[in-house]
Amino acid sequence: MYDYYAGGAGSEQTLAENLSAWSRVWLRPRGLVNVSEVSSACVLLGTQSSLPLVLAPVAAQGLLSDDGESATARAAAAAGVPFCLSTSGSRSPSEVAAAAPGASLWFQLYVDEDRQVTSDLLSSLASFGYRRVVVTIDLAVAGRRERERKHEARPVGGWASWLTWADLDWVRETSGLPVVVKGVSTAEDARLALDHGAEAVVVSNHGGRQLDGCVPTAVALREVVDEVHRAVPVLVDGGIRSGADVCRALALGADAAMIGRPYAWGLAVAGEEGVREVLSAFEEDVRITLALLGRTRPSEVDGSCARLAGW
Ligand SMILES: Cc1cc2nc3c(=O)[nH]c(=O)nc-3n(C[C@H](O)[C@H](O)[C@H](O)COP(=O)(O)O)c2cc1C
Repeated sequence: MYDYYAGGAGSEQTLAENLSAWSRVWLRPRGLVNVSEVSSACVLLGTQSSLPLVLAPVAAQGLLSDDGESATARAAAAAGVPFCLSTSGSRSPSEVAAAAPGASLWFQLYVDEDRQVTSDLLSSLASFGYRRVVVTIDLAVAGRRERERKHEARPVGGWASWLTWADLDWVRETSGLPVVVKGVSTAEDARLALDHGAEAVVVSNHGGRQLDGCVPTAVALREVVDEVHRAVPVLVDGGIRSGADVCRALALGADAAMIGRPYAWGLAVAGEEGVREVLSAFEEDVRITLALLGRTRPSEVDGSCARLAGW
């Protein structure tokens, strides 16, 4: 199972580069600014959030902890950040919603070959309290993941191939919810998402699990931000491992970051408490980083906070 969670596609080049690309975004500290009152809080897609951070959809969390996604949702609610439940979750959307009152819940969609199955699922989400549908576009087929093959495990098939751009309207109408497009690595797909009415885009390469050799997300983020030019919020994930990384993402123009593996490890080690610990470490690190950048809140982070090393 460790190999399933930790691994990436191919030679795991993108898995590694997702991390190292953030380390090439250097932060520019500022001094003698009054930072006695620093807050990591922000408005994220119209909702107050304690951090510019979202728990990304990660499949099969029942393998990490008995309570699976229910534990994650409770930790997210306690920390005041949104949690995005995967279609491939171990718990159903209604179970997770019931287990975590007050959580800000998003739902990540893979479309079933049988449209009716997806249609029934979509039309139930709003009544359980889910706020948006996150359509993942980077899994037309499953990436070639050597570590999974070693164990003869193939937990995920190709799902996104049952959906094309023209179907986004159908997702929005059937669910009655805004649609976020996740898995964007290019200006072209960001533009298409915008043209098809996406509420936001998530720059993501599935944590290096799909196209190996894919451009790392810190680099793709700049291309996407230039293209959408603040017309919609841009989120980013892949290799975000600290509050400093969250601030690097903001400096490159993102509105928020998502994390996958970091909270999965917290869940594996200590269930709900473990996810809370991870979120609390991110929150503290965002506050410290903001203060050292001479900023008092995430919305004050801009391009002048970063300098790119060797791009
Ligand atoms: C084990 C695992 C399962 C995942 N399952 C899904 C999924 O079901 N749906 C989805 O959209 N993304 C899925 N992702 C991708 C994450 O949402 C996210 O893009 C990625 O983990 C971010 O990279 P990070 O792990 O470096 O933070 C998964 C990632 C991992 C590691």
